Amino acid sequence: MREIKADIRLGDCVEVLRSFADNTFDLIVTSPPYADSRSKTYGGIKPDDYVAWFLPRSSEFLRVLKPTGTFILNIKEKAANGERHTYVLDLILSLRKQGWLWTEEFIWHKKNCYPGKWPNRFRDAWERCLQFNKSKKFKMLQDAVRVPMGEWAQTRLKSLGKNDVIRFNSQAGSGFGKNIANWLNRDLAYPTNVIHLATETGNKNHSATFPKSLPEWFIKLFTQEDDWVLDPFLGSGTTCEVAQEMGRNSVGIDIMAEYYHMSKSKIKEVDRFLLEESASYGKHNRKRNSHVHRKKH
Ligand SMILES: C[S@@+](CC[C@H](N)C(=O)[O-])C[C@H]1O[C@@H](n2cnc3c(N)ncnc32)[C@H](O)[C@@H]1O
Repeated sequence: MREIKADIRLGDCVEVLRSFADNTFDLIVTSPPYADSRSKTYGGIKPDDYVAWFLPRSSEFLRVLKPTGTFILNIKEKAANGERHTYVLDLILSLRKQGWLWTEEFIWHKKNCYPGKWPNRFRDAWERCLQFNKSKKFKMLQDAVRVPMGEWAQTRLKSLGKNDVIRFNSQAGSGFGKNIANWLNRDLAYPTNVIHLATETGNKNHSATFPKSLPEWFIKLFTQEDDWVLDPFLGSGTTCEVAQEMGRNSVGIDIMAEYYHMSKSKIKEVDRFLLEESASYGKHNRKRNSHVHRKKH
C-alpha cells in the first residue's frame, strides 16, 4: 500500500534542506517572511538585507528542485516613506543571477480584502506569486486549472463579428493572432495569470496564513499525484495539508517550534487507498477532503 508522506521539520530551511538529495521536489510553493513584517513573532528582516538573507536559502531550493520543477514565491513589497521598496525587484534580478529563470508572474487578487485608503494610494488588493524554473521545459498541466467559460461565453461569443471567425492580428498591431470562434461550444477555458481568491483561511493561530485555494491552484497546475511538494516557510502547515488532500507527498519546514507543532498536529501520513475512497465519496457528497482517514502513529 502506498502512503502519502507529509514530512514536517523544525529548523532554518537552509540547514534542514542540506539533508535532502539534489532534484527531489516537483514544486516549491511558499510565502516567506516579508521584509520588516511580523518582527515580534518571526521574520523582521530589514528590506535592505532581504536579498542577502534570501539567496543562501534559494540556492538550496535550486539544488533540491527537479529540472522539470517549479518554484512559486508569494511575496509583496510594502510601501515605506511614501514609496514602494524595491527589494522584491532586486530579489528577482538576484535570483536570475543565481541561475533561476523568471518564467512568469501571477497576480493573486484578494477578492475580499478589507477597505482602506491612504493619502497617496489605495488599498492593497493583490500579491505577487513569482514563478521561477530551472529550465524552460518544466511540467505544467494547464488543463487541470481550466475554468468555466461563464458570462464571457454568453455575451461575447453570441455576438461574433466577421473578424472573430477568421484568424487575424490584433488591431493594436501586437501581431498576436486570435480566433475567438475556436472557443465556441466549449465549457471550459484556460485561466489568465490573475488568480482571484478570497483571503480567508479559517486559521486563527498564525498571523500570515494563505488560503488553501492558493497552494491548491499551483499544486494542480505543476504536479501530479505522488509528486513531491516543498514549503520551506511552512507556517501553519497549509501547503502540506493541501498537498496531502490532493495525494501529493510533501515536506514542510518552519523555524518556530510553535508552528512546527501546529502543523505536526494536523498533518499525519495517510494511506493512499483511504484517500481515494474519501475523494470518491466527496465527488458524490461535495465534501471532498472532509474526512481523509489519517494513519494512526
Ligand atoms: C508568511 S509565514 C508562512 C505562512 C504559511 N503560508 C501559512 O499558510 O501558514 C512565514 C513562515 O516562515 C517561517 N520562517 C521564517 N524564517 C524561516 C527560516 N529561516 N526557515 C524556515 N521557516 C522560517 C516563520 O516562522 C513563518 O511561520
